[in-house]
Amino acid sequence: MFDYHDTLEELNKNIPLNNKLRYVHNVLKQHYDFIDRLSIAIHDPTTDKLKTFLHSSGRDEPLNHYQVKLAEAPSLLEILKQGKPRIVANVNIFQDSKRTHTKKILAQGYAASYTMPMYIDSIFFGFLFFNSYQPDVFNAENLHYLDLMGHLIMMVVGHDLTSTRNLIATIKTAKEMVHRRDFETGTHLNHMAHYSRLIALKLVDKYHFTDEYIEKLFLFAPLHDIGKIGIPDKVLLKPGKLTDDEFEHMKTHTIIGREMIEKMLDNFELQNLTSIEILRNIAEYHHESVNGKGYPHGLSGQNIPIESRIIAVADVFDALTSKRPYKMAWDNNEAFAMLEKLSNQQLDNDCVKAMLDSRSEIEEIQQRFDETHFG
Ligand code: C2E
Ligand code: SIN
Ligand code: SIN
Ligand code: FE
Ligand code: FE
Repeated sequence: MFDYHDTLEELNKNIPLNNKLRYVHNVLKQHYDFIDRLSIAIHDPTTDKLKTFLHSSGRDEPLNHYQVKLAEAPSLLEILKQGKPRIVANVNIFQDSKRTHTKKILAQGYAASYTMPMYIDSIFFGFLFFNSYQPDVFNAENLHYLDLMGHLIMMVVGHDLTSTRNLIATIKTAKEMVHRRDFETGTHLNHMAHYSRLIALKLVDKYHFTDEYIEKLFLFAPLHDIGKIGIPDKVLLKPGKLTDDEFEHMKTHTIIGREMIEKMLDNFELQNLTSIEILRNIAEYHHESVNGKGYPHGLSGQNIPIESRIIAVADVFDALTSKRPYKMAWDNNEAFAMLEKLSNQQLDNDCVKAMLDSRSEIEEIQQRFDETHFG
């Protein structure tokens, strides 16, 4: 027998999607060394934002942490309208473009591009880009193979996104079934997603977060309190201060949340879903304090995963500025002052600083999701 090696075996592993993309890129390069970059942008239908998500280039990434409205990218819209891939023999036909993403691609010296629209069950979810530093490289002969690899990448990424969405929908359903009246407002859930992304974006230089990480954090942030499903309404919705016993009970929402996530991952056979550690960590550790006085484990400092430290700051800020059954809403100034006070005690200093440096963005997010204002 000859020693056979499956060229694509890495795709079976529980590694970040970005590593899988890089791996496929390396395999592709053995056949077609003119492929210098693969990248994926995903589309959010509710906001029409196209967000950079994965890329296989080295340190020269031209488009990290970038988003644009699809409606403002006419050449990509055209691809969607046609419903088929686009070959650009030389990107310099876009020389006069004023669009940031086009200028950055040009500035990086890319010449030819091949762009495939990506679909899950015939619903559009993003674009896959092949870029080359050489012009005129894409032709019928190599596109035959590149298309196959493109569809393989789409299936890997599409499967991951579908699994993630199903998991989130299941958690939402579980919550709705247990509590007749929802204990969390849509505003709080949206705030958690957006504040967390804001903090992560400010810390990108220090922690080298990838777009994939930031997107998963954005998706999972609203789920940090799912363990509250296991807390009876008479405690959860109590209009006044909790007794010591009730608070001890309340604290178990972190452990319950982690257990529920494990059960769901088991039931759906999703133990190997990429980046699922982020969800586990934010459910279990979002009430740990950097000074070690938090719960459930009394972890301290860097021993608390960074995603949990980010969520903690977003959560406390939103709890303070929201009306709860047990408290009135504070104004932003009071909440910022409290974050400063809690910095280095309960909350991570970097994450607090990121939040304090984001005043205008926070106000914008608050206005966008404010339930008392319409339009
Ligand atoms: P939550 O309402 O989402 O609050 C999340 C976290 O925000 C709290 O975690 C706490 O760290 C911070 N926070 C909220 N309000 C204040 C405040 O007035 N001052 C300060 N310094 N921090 C505040 P914590 O304390 O571990 O509580 C976890 C959850 O337990 C809360 O989630 C809430 O659901 C419940 N809870 C806490 N205290 C009470 C209470 O007195 N009455 C009721 N009914 N529930 C409470
Ligand atoms: C564009 O969509 O404006 C062209 C640049 C690109 O291929 O990303
Ligand atoms: C984000 O992109 O989520 C932060 C900024 C915003 O939502 O306005
Ligand atoms: Fe909590
Ligand atoms: Fe919360």
